[in-house]
Amino acid sequence: MDHFEYRDGVLYGEEVPLTQVADEVGTPCYVYSKATLARHFRAYTEALGGHPHLICYAVKANSNLAVLGLLAQLGAGFDIVSVGELERVLVAGGDPAKVVFSGVAKQEAEMIRALEVGIKCFNVESRPELERLSAVASRLGKVAAVSLRVNPDVDAGTHPYISTGLKGNKFGIPVEEALTVYELATTLPGLKVVGLDCHIGSQLTELAPFLDALDRLLILLERLRERGITVEHLDLGGGLGVPYHNERPPQPFDYAASLLERLAQWPHGAHLTLLFEPGRSIAANAGVLLTRVEYLKPGETRNFAIVDAGMNDLIRPSLYQAWQAILPVDVRHSRDVETYDVVGPVCETSDFLGKDRALAIAPGDLLAVRSAGAYGFVMASNYNSRPRPAEVMVDDDRYHIVRQRESVESLWAGESLLPRDSHREA
Ligand code: LLP
Repeated sequence: MDHFEYRDGVLYGEEVPLTQVADEVGTPCYVYSKATLARHFRAYTEALGGHPHLICYAVKANSNLAVLGLLAQLGAGFDIVSVGELERVLVAGGDPAKVVFSGVAKQEAEMIRALEVGIKCFNVESRPELERLSAVASRLGKVAAVSLRVNPDVDAGTHPYISTGLKGNKFGIPVEEALTVYELATTLPGLKVVGLDCHIGSQLTELAPFLDALDRLLILLERLRERGITVEHLDLGGGLGVPYHNERPPQPFDYAASLLERLAQWPHGAHLTLLFEPGRSIAANAGVLLTRVEYLKPGETRNFAIVDAGMNDLIRPSLYQAWQAILPVDVRHSRDVETYDVVGPVCETSDFLGKDRALAIAPGDLLAVRSAGAYGFVMASNYNSRPRPAEVMVDDDRYHIVRQRESVESLWAGESLLPRDSHREA
């Protein structure tokens, strides 16, 4: 459930007509709903009830400070993959003691900063990373809490680019090697084993792969216990899908209920704290991208609706052939329905937001691309020297600009011409 709805023919975000946001802030523009973000976060905490847990929102999905600040206030922890994300969390008021650090390429400087601020746990993805972390922590006289990210080799049944739990991709430690690497972790200085982690992929629409992964992790935990290695938490990563089109992904409640049932069958399950790293299921349907139709261009084989947002603003359709709903914001006019490819201004054939969409529109009309709150703005670029869009958060009957639209001048901030004396003739 989200808080974007039509009222008297106009699409609203909570109590704010999106026509007003577009008129006042301009387009393209991302609009997020505070109530929807909060609702999606609470769906997790309520689903887990009294079982010890921590929801570490995956910052990569939408790292706007206002989003992070809101979730921090609601008690969220955070899953980060870079020092940039860590600093964002801190600036937004997040608690470093609730931060887990994922990612395959953690640099020394990133480890140092994370140790300095005292994060909860490093999700270590390889043996060399473990050795580097041990060296860095020992040098600083600190103890790094670690969890190994294990690759359970289950097929998440999702797009190959966002499937991460199979053998043959770069993530995690193969489950068969995990025992040896855990044993190594207990002998290296500067480390404390606290958890076990996995993340099998994103936009999962079935529970079975999650439960298969859990089963494999529980077998591993049992083997670890036999060797005297115990953990405090089990981190199951993110990955719960959202309805973009006709998908009917399980809700956090169904997910948590099945996990808890499975866990209860394991003799030590009751005391194991559960960590989750959801991104998309919290943010995707809490945001839309507003864009205006510039031109309608009828063609022999296809009709194009050319809009002012492109693949640089929202890359998911081009990159993953992802389908996101495209709705007219104001349906009070009467117009003819045509089938359009909704395309942007970027000079690439792959620059589209949607194909074969039945729309009743005219130039100047506003469109909303739904489900754009996750992996939207964060993946935007300045390709074709296009300033990145503004971001707005609606909160009941008010809205706040939570990121200004980039200026044209900002496009070359940090660049410089060559010094005069380097303009020698060749
Ligand atoms: N934890 C880890 C270690 C991850 O790699 C990810 C996502 C998450 C948590 C959050 O997963 P979520 O709950 O959002 O599914 N750009 C792609 C998605 C890439 C996901 C990368 N990792 C897209 O637009 O579909």
